[in-house]
Amino acid sequence: MTDASPLRVVVLISGSGSNLQALIDSARQGDLPIDLRAVISNEPGAFGLERARRAGIDTRVLGHRDFASREAYDQALADLIDPYRPGLVVLAGFMRILSPAFVSRFRGRMLNIHPSLLPKFRGLHTHQRALEARETLHGASVHFVTEELDGGPLVLQAEVPIEPGDDANRLAARVLAQEHRIYPLAVRWFAQGRLRLGDDGKPRLDGQVVEQPLILGRLTRDQLGCDRE
Ligand code: GRF
Repeated sequence: MTDASPLRVVVLISGSGSNLQALIDSARQGDLPIDLRAVISNEPGAFGLERARRAGIDTRVLGHRDFASREAYDQALADLIDPYRPGLVVLAGFMRILSPAFVSRFRGRMLNIHPSLLPKFRGLHTHQRALEARETLHGASVHFVTEELDGGPLVLQAEVPIEPGDDANRLAARVLAQEHRIYPLAVRWFAQGRLRLGDDGKPRLDGQVVEQPLILGRLTRDQLGCDRE
């Protein structure tokens, strides 16, 4: 990827869009060679749409309640995405389960962020569940998207220790702050052509198979690609 052709990216959201904001900020600072072509939400009131508008990014709303089936919605969503010709689709708090047809259409070029140390705590209410399970370590994960919900190949995680007195909100806030570090980093790797999903279904960073998720804080300078993430 050269400076002349930044990676075309479409971001899918449903809510606040703070991860979207982290990408916008990172791109603005020149740390992320991406061209944010569009932000699409299934929720018309998503605050992330406002963030996108403020950043001058094209916004679209595709309400899922207007469709009879998941397949029909996903077909319409893919048709909305395709004209933007994205090299990467970024799920940033997009609260929909995706159909196999949609997932296979964007195989190897769709990333998700999930607020747990996957494979622990797939699905919802991850912070509360981590507390109830008396975990001492929690966090967030970036992964390629496959048919398996929150089960795609893991790329990068940030660990967040659980502290005495934590409740779900307090823990969520600390995890979210780490999400805002790892998502731009993983997207940057992808945009630079350093991160790929192999035909064997395993991610590769700089040609090296990522067997275990990489952990922020334990990355080498080479993996980071610069002195800061
Ligand atoms: C994040 O916790 C993300 O991990 C999860 O949904 C939340 C979205 O937050 N998938 P935001 O909309 O990016 O603020």
